[in-house]
Amino acid sequence: MKVRLPVRKAILQRRTYEAPAEGRLNKVRLDFNENTSGCGPAAIRALRKLTAQQVAMYPEYAVPTRRIAAYFGIAEHELLLTNGGDDALRVFFDAFVEPSNHVLICEPTFPMYRYYAEIAGARIETLHYGSEMEFPLDKFVSALRKKPAVAFMANPNNPTGTLLPRAAIQKLLMAATRTVVVIDEAYAEFSGVTVLPLIPKYPNLFVTRTFSKAAGLAGLRLGAAMACRESLSLLRRAMPPFPVNIGALVAAEAALRERSSIRNYVKQTREIREWFAGELVRLGVRTFPSAGNFLLADFGVRGPALFKQLASQGILVRERSKDIGPGFVRISIGTAAEMTRLVKVIRKEIRPTFRRGKN
Ligand SMILES: Cc1ncc(COP(=O)(O)O)c(C=O)c1O
Repeated sequence: MKVRLPVRKAILQRRTYEAPAEGRLNKVRLDFNENTSGCGPAAIRALRKLTAQQVAMYPEYAVPTRRIAAYFGIAEHELLLTNGGDDALRVFFDAFVEPSNHVLICEPTFPMYRYYAEIAGARIETLHYGSEMEFPLDKFVSALRKKPAVAFMANPNNPTGTLLPRAAIQKLLMAATRTVVVIDEAYAEFSGVTVLPLIPKYPNLFVTRTFSKAAGLAGLRLGAAMACRESLSLLRRAMPPFPVNIGALVAAEAALRERSSIRNYVKQTREIREWFAGELVRLGVRTFPSAGNFLLADFGVRGPALFKQLASQGILVRERSKDIGPGFVRISIGTAAEMTRLVKVIRKEIRPTFRRGKN
C-alpha cells in the first residue's frame, strides 16, 4: 500500500536522536553525568514495596507533590512534576512557542533546548560562552530586548560547568519583560546556588530540576518545573494528565526521606572533582572550573589517542571535539575508585608526549 504521511516540515528537516552509547551497564560510565554510586538504598526498598494494586492504578500526585515541594522549599502550587527534566523542557515549547517565534540559548549547552526548538520549528538565536567558558551576560541581556518567546539557561551549565550568581540572573529577569526565562538547575545540588527563592518576585521565571543527578534516579525519569502559581498554570495546560509513573514517585519520596544519601554523594563528588581537576592540571591539561558533577577538559592534540585508549578500556567519557574544539571532553565525576582508574590511564597515555614537550 502506498501512502503519503502528512509529516511536518520541521520533522523532515531533522534527524532522530541517536543515544551516544548503549550497553553501558558494566562500563565506567563517565559520559552522562549520572550518579555512578547508584541511588540510595531507601529508593530501592520503596520500589520493592510497591504492590500489584498500586502498579495497576493511575498515580495520584497530591501527596508526592506536597513532599517534593517541601524539599525544594516552595509551595505545592508552584511545582509541576514531569517525566524527567527533559520532559519539563519540552512543555515550554507546547505552552509558549509558536513556529514563528524565536528562542534564545547560549552554547555549548544542554542539547535538548535546540532539539525541542527544532521540533517546534522555532527560530533559534544562539550566543556563545567565552574562551574561558564565561557566560556573556551583557550580550544575553541585549538579546532579551529582541523579545524571544523563551530563553533557556542551565545553571550550572552543562558541559562548561559555568555558574552564574543569583544577582546576574536577576539582571536577566529584569530585562526579560516579554520572555519566559527558564533556569535549568539540573545540577543545583552540586553548586548550592538556586533561584527558587526568586519565584514569588518574578512571574517570568521558571526553574527546572531533575532527580536524575544528585538523587541518582535517572532510570525512573522524574523532573520538575517550578514557577509562581499564575505562570505555572499556563504550563499545566500543556501537560498530559499522568506524566509521572508510580515507581518514580515512591522512589523520590523515599530518597527525600533519606537525604543523607544525596548529601553524601554531593559532598564526595565535589571533593573528587577538585582532586581530579588538580591531577589534570598537574599533567598539563587545561580544565575549566565546574560547579556540577562533571568537568570540562581540553587535552589538545593528545585528546584523540587518549579517547581511543579510554574507549578500549571500557571508560566512557563525552568527547566534545565537534562542538567545542578538538581535544575537548566532558568527564562526569564518578566514584573515587573510578576516577583513580581514569587518572592512571590518562597519566600513562599522555605523560610520554608531555615529557617530549608536545603539550
Ligand atoms: C542541564 C541539564 N538539564 C536537564 C537534564 C535532563 O535530565 P533528565 O531528563 O534525566 O531529568 C540534563 C541531563 O543531562 C542536563 O544536563
